Amino acid sequence: MSEQAGSARKPFLYVVVCAAGVASDVTELIAAAQRRGWEVGVFATPVAMDGFFDTAAVEERTGRPIRSAWRRPGDPRPFPAPDAVVVAPATFNTVNKWAAGLADTLAVATLCEACGLGVPVAVLPCVADALASHPAYRESLARLRGMGVRFGDPRGGEATPGGGRPDFAWERALDLLEPR
Ligand SMILES: Cc1cc2nc3c(=O)[nH]c(=O)nc-3n(C[C@H](O)[C@H](O)[C@H](O)COP(=O)(O)O)c2cc1C
Repeated sequence: MSEQAGSARKPFLYVVVCAAGVASDVTELIAAAQRRGWEVGVFATPVAMDGFFDTAAVEERTGRPIRSAWRRPGDPRPFPAPDAVVVAPATFNTVNKWAAGLADTLAVATLCEACGLGVPVAVLPCVADALASHPAYRESLARLRGMGVRFGDPRGGEATPGGGRPDFAWERALDLLEPR
């Protein structure tokens, strides 16, 4: 994605981070997005905020506070409207809540809204094979695909002891945002 000629601002990308072990490397995605010309604002689930990634490093890199809690009535929206949304890593829990329309966290509420905004939405799931075989999850994927959500390859299999998964294809999320 390159900045439009004559445009006063860079396109704005929402990155939604869920509580999967691989989230510890999410700065790779943010840096790659910035190299491609995106300005980035990060949303994280409340569980993800609790030790899954270096929140200070992400805020330093984006120059903006991470959004996880709801703003108070009357407070301004801290981020501009998105030009695109990436969910990476996406957990079993968040994918199922999103598909069901259960907007109980700011992160999931943001996702529930995203498709209605008409902007591209790309997801990199990080879900172990045992969980991914649950029928509710398969139905969630089908429902979200039907809404136009673009999915990268599922990351199942065995996690490393630290919860990470080798070769998580962060940049694939950005490729998925390209016009079709
Ligand atoms: C170290 C660790 C790693 C985890 N990794 C994953 C994962 O890769 N995928 C997943 O779906 N859940 C994973 N979980 C479980 C989620 O954190 C848990 O389901 C949580 O409720 C997800 O919340 P969220 O979807 O609101 O972020 C992990 C939990 C821990 C403690």
